[in-house]
Amino acid sequence: MDESSDLRMKRIPLNHGAGNMPALGFGTLIPDAAVTITATRDALEAGFRHFDCAERYGNEREVGRALQAGAAAARIARGDIFVTTKLWNSNHRPERVEPAFEASLDRLGLKYLDLYLVHTPFAFLPGDEQDPRDQNGNVIYDHDVTLLDTWKAMESLVDHGKCRAIGLSDVGLNELKPLYESARIKPSVVQVESHPYLPETELLEYCKENGVVLLAFAPLGHGMKPGLLEDPVILSIAARVGKTPAQVLLAWAVQRGTAVLTTPKSAARARENFDISPLPGDALDEINRIQTRQRLNPVVTTGIPGFIPKGG
Ligand SMILES: NC(=O)c1ccc[n+]([C@@H]2O[C@H](COP(=O)([O-])OP(=O)(O)OC[C@H]3O[C@@H](n4cnc5c(N)ncnc54)[C@H](OP(=O)(O)O)[C@@H]3O)[C@@H](O)[C@H]2O)c1
Repeated sequence: MDESSDLRMKRIPLNHGAGNMPALGFGTLIPDAAVTITATRDALEAGFRHFDCAERYGNEREVGRALQAGAAAARIARGDIFVTTKLWNSNHRPERVEPAFEASLDRLGLKYLDLYLVHTPFAFLPGDEQDPRDQNGNVIYDHDVTLLDTWKAMESLVDHGKCRAIGLSDVGLNELKPLYESARIKPSVVQVESHPYLPETELLEYCKENGVVLLAFAPLGHGMKPGLLEDPVILSIAARVGKTPAQVLLAWAVQRGTAVLTTPKSAARARENFDISPLPGDALDEINRIQTRQRLNPVVTTGIPGFIPKGG
C-alpha cells in the first residue's frame, strides 16, 4: 500500500475497544431526498466507508436505502461500513433517548450503530417538534434535564450492545471536560466545526490527551466563497503539490490527527474528495500559520442548526 492510499484508508482507534473509525467520512446533511440517495451511493463507490447521519437531517431512510443497495451491489459487508447518527435536542430527556435511537436505527435499516452522538448540548422542549418556538419565535429550551442525565441514557445504549460508541457534538471544552470527568463511559468522539480558520487547537490537544477523536465538520468551510477554497495559502499549496484546494484541506485535517466529514454531491467530487494524499511538512506548517479566524456555524452557541433549511 503506498503513502497516498494510507491516508485515504486511515482508521483511528476508538476508546472502550469500540473498534476504529475511518478518518475520512461522508456527511449526509443534504436537504434533497433524491440527491441524498445518489450522493451516498457515489460516496460509497468512491471509497468512503464512514457515513455521518442525524435524526435532524430528515433523510436517514434515504441514506439507509442507498447504503444497503450500494453495499449489496459492491459486496461490502456491514462490518466494513461505519455509521453514525445523532440524538436531536428535543429528545434529551432520558426516557426519550432509547426510543429516538431505535427510531433512527429503524429508518437506517440497521441492527446496530457504530457511533451515536448527542447532536448538541442544548435540550429543547421534549416532543416531536424539532424546532419548538414560543409566540415570539424564540426557541423553547428545556432546563429540567442536564447533559449528564442524557449521557447516562446514552451509556445504557452501549451497555445493551446496540451501539458501539457514543460521543458529543457542537461542544467546547466547557461542556466536554465536566462531562468527560463524570462519565462512566467516556465520549469516544467529539464532532465540531474545524478547519484552518477554526483549528480548535486547545480542544484537539485535550481530545488527544484523553483518547477522544475530534471529528471535524465544515473542512471546506461549507464550500462558501470567498472562503477556504479560495484562500491564497491553500491555492498556492494546491498548485505546488498538484492537488485541488479541497484535497489539500482534507489531507491537512487527517494529517493533524482529526477525523473529517465532507459532503460532495456529485460522483466526480466524491472521487476528488476521497483521493487525498499526504502533504509535505512545510505545507502543513504554512496552513498552521494562517491567521484568519472564522466560525461559520452558530449551532455551538444556540443549538439551532445554521445549515438546515427550515422544515428540513
Ligand atoms: N454536528 C453538526 O452540528 C454539524 C453541522 C454541519 C455539518 N455537519 C456534518 O458535517 C458534514 C459535512 O458538511 P459540510 O458542509 O461541513 O461539508 P464541506 O465538505 O465542508 O462543505 C460542503 C460544501 O462544499 C462543496 N464541495 C464539496 N466538495 C467540493 C470540492 N471538491 N470542491 C469544491 N467544493 C466542494 C459542496 O458543494 P456541492 O453542494 O456543490 O457539492 C458543499 O457546498 C455534514 O454533511 C454533516 O454530516 C455536522
